[in-house]
Amino acid sequence: MYEELVRKEKLLAVIGLGYVGLPIALAFARKVKVIGFDINAKRVAMMQEGMDPSGELEKSDFDGCDIEFTNRPEDLKKVSFFIVAVPTPIDNHTMPDLRPLLSASHTVGKALKKGDYVVYESTVYPGCTEEDCIPILEQESGLKFRTDFKVGYSPERINPGDKEHTLSKITKVAAGCCPESLEVIAKVYELVVEAGVHRASSIKVAEAAKIIENTQRDLNIALMNELSIIFDRMKINTYEVLEAAGTKWNFLRFSPGLVGGHCIGVDPYYLTYKSKELGHTPKVILSGRQINDGMGAYVAQKTVQLMAKQGKDIVKARVLVMGATFKENVEDIRNSKVADVINELKNFSVHVDVVDPMADSQELQQEYGFGLLPEPGRKQMPSL
Ligand SMILES: NC(=O)c1ccc[n+]([C@@H]2O[C@H](COP(=O)([O-])OP(=O)(O)OC[C@H]3O[C@@H](n4cnc5c(N)ncnc54)[C@H](O)[C@@H]3O)[C@@H](O)[C@H]2O)c1
Repeated sequence: MYEELVRKEKLLAVIGLGYVGLPIALAFARKVKVIGFDINAKRVAMMQEGMDPSGELEKSDFDGCDIEFTNRPEDLKKVSFFIVAVPTPIDNHTMPDLRPLLSASHTVGKALKKGDYVVYESTVYPGCTEEDCIPILEQESGLKFRTDFKVGYSPERINPGDKEHTLSKITKVAAGCCPESLEVIAKVYELVVEAGVHRASSIKVAEAAKIIENTQRDLNIALMNELSIIFDRMKINTYEVLEAAGTKWNFLRFSPGLVGGHCIGVDPYYLTYKSKELGHTPKVILSGRQINDGMGAYVAQKTVQLMAKQGKDIVKARVLVMGATFKENVEDIRNSKVADVINELKNFSVHVDVVDPMADSQELQQEYGFGLLPEPGRKQMPSL
């Protein structure tokens, strides 16, 4: 497989070309022949023009790439190595929403041939690839897992907006369904990952490794958030405390803040879902989630308290919120906790103006019911 990919006798496809899928597809397209598949025709049309719909990559990143973008499932029939990088969100009840992943598995299953490889990159709970995805691949293809086709898992660790830790510079974890498939998958990824590939002992181990990276980060931030609530009552500045504590060699540096986006605040729920299914209700992980999910409202309540202390008339007051995306320097508004801050301020009848040079006003209006001012200013007074 590896040699045939390198000689361009076989094709590699990436299914789902978002924040994760497009960079990996373009990186591979400098080494092998790639099909970039996405169900979103509008996004595919942009990529055909050398534009990244997620706003992370430059036009020049498409230069010299051997890639064909398509939304036609039949184009996948000529592919031998599939990489699946579709979203794995949660629903309104914080339950895993596997619909994109299962749908992508149906698409790949229909194109699967003897000898093919499928590698999942989407973040999932341990067991998902083998219990939820592989049966669909078998059912759609009529082929037998392991004897007819191989499956692996290789989680993505990129951090949108981060220009330092880019795909090729982050060690990639990879797992296969047998030692032979692991070696093939690792060698394929080594084509594009300069930092190297860590060979995990099983698919479940690789799935678990990814999910705990984000769970650990979520919990550490939750601890900082809780400390900031406690120190506020003690009238101590949290940042000064963290600066002092940070002088110890083994004190971990985390800061309080809003935990939004579709990774850190979402992935722990995949783990807690599976844990509950197996009879253990996680306490520490869910407590952390509860703290972090409540921080938007807390920030708004503190703001209103401080305004009242300054003698401001809350109902006539105008608050300017600068930044609406889920974190700095990205266009992504999904699961932005800034919306929680705004909603809670509105609960106090405060008038809120929002500016953000990165975010799309229409998208915000659709998702959260508020738009953006083009720039901060006293004269503009849109209705929120
Ligand atoms: N964004 C990150 O920072 C990041 C980092 C590490 C891991 N991950 C994980 O990677 C996965 C992908 O995340 P993302 O941020 O790239 O998502 P995204 O929303 O940016 O992109 C997903 C793409 O998949 C397409 N898609 C959806 N369903 C599809 C289907 N059935 N077939 C083909 N295409 C389909 C969408 O149109 C979209 O273009 C998720 O599991 C996520 O948790 C994300």
